[in-house]
Amino acid sequence: MCGVEIKKNGNGNSEINNNSTRNYENGNGITKINGNGNGITSNGVHHSSRQNDDVVINLDQGDPKMYFPYWKNVDDKCTITIKASELMSYFADVSNGGVFYQMPEFTEAVRRVHRVVGNAVADDRYIIGGTGSSQLFTVALKALASTVKSSTTDYENYRIPVVCAEPYYSCYGEALEEGKSEVYKWEGDANKFKVDGPYIEVVTTPNNPDGRCREPVVNKEGGMVICDLAYYWPQYTPITAPADYDVMLFTLSKATGHAGSRVGWAIVKNKEVAMNMIKVMTLETIGTCHEGQLRATKLLDFVADGYDDQLVDDKPDGLFEFGHRVLAERWEKLRAAVESCGAFSLPDFPSDFCNFWGKHCQPNPAYAWMELKSGGEAAKLMSELKIRTRCGTRFGVSAKYIRVNMMESDVSFNLFLERLSTIKLE
Ligand SMILES: Cc1ncc(COP(=O)(O)O)c(C=O)c1O
Repeated sequence: MCGVEIKKNGNGNSEINNNSTRNYENGNGITKINGNGNGITSNGVHHSSRQNDDVVINLDQGDPKMYFPYWKNVDDKCTITIKASELMSYFADVSNGGVFYQMPEFTEAVRRVHRVVGNAVADDRYIIGGTGSSQLFTVALKALASTVKSSTTDYENYRIPVVCAEPYYSCYGEALEEGKSEVYKWEGDANKFKVDGPYIEVVTTPNNPDGRCREPVVNKEGGMVICDLAYYWPQYTPITAPADYDVMLFTLSKATGHAGSRVGWAIVKNKEVAMNMIKVMTLETIGTCHEGQLRATKLLDFVADGYDDQLVDDKPDGLFEFGHRVLAERWEKLRAAVESCGAFSLPDFPSDFCNFWGKHCQPNPAYAWMELKSGGEAAKLMSELKIRTRCGTRFGVSAKYIRVNMMESDVSFNLFLERLSTIKLE
């Protein structure tokens, strides 16, 4: 159970006790609460009481805590030390043509890991680091919008529509609506998009929340695509070809599980778009944190070393084997639990040939997209079981769907399965 035990505290309430030295190292996604959570009925479904019913399990966010045991094992091999006098300048790359705030070794580590995995074309492309891929998403929108606006005056007062096929990652629309930009606007489901003129389609593949592999759906003149490849890594999905879209986004959060470092990167083909992105990054935050880049470099190089044929003696255990094994086991257990509970259904995924593993593989998505078969509010039923999930409406679809984070800690995932088994159909 990932260095974690559950025990009673002085008040008689259960709490998760973390055996590791510092609490911020792993966290369990579990909140201590009062109440016993017994005997709740919803949507024609009953559940019976069990031990540990009074802890809330948070499977709402996509926190990648499942990677903790892998990195705990590695720990000192990936330590970085930064002296007080180091990394002080705004500038990390003083060569002409480089991204001034970006350490060349970070750029090289990104290119190397993509070469090793074969999931994206990164050589001869611009690599632009950001504070997570969340920042790069809006930076890419601004950069694409300004290439349209600078090419013609036809679209002076036009807010460029941004669309994504539903179910779409909840944060895209939420971030755009919050931002209230005058140059672009959130238009929701790409399948319903009919307007002529420039637009931006976001393609998330494999998709968050439903794990499906996707292509652009609008395919009209004036269209620009941002491809969010946060989960295009071999632990989640077969790598069928190196992705080569105009603008691609990746994040350390889902590649290695280091979400707290807030490191993402864009791979960009077109020089004007890349220069616009660097300009926005400069104006917004004068680049990104050099400490984060250094840590990402160390971690990405360590991961790539695991698959480097030149290394024989000192080859690290593979991160992707670990991630693939954990997720495959969890999916197997979840499918068995869902089948025996009978209240929910899960999507099926076809296997595909993975160039990275050299064989046919089943996808193991980072989220379970669960449908409550009787209809009604699936998230409400889960919250009665003290399980936080994300409601389908946030992804542009019905409340009968929920998204469940499959990357949580072992203890949270196992409690989730335990509670699922208490649901009984009427
Ligand atoms: C599809 C997708 N894109 C982007 C992000 C944001 O990643 P980051 O942590 O790099 O901001 C997430 C996080 O869950 C995601 O699921």
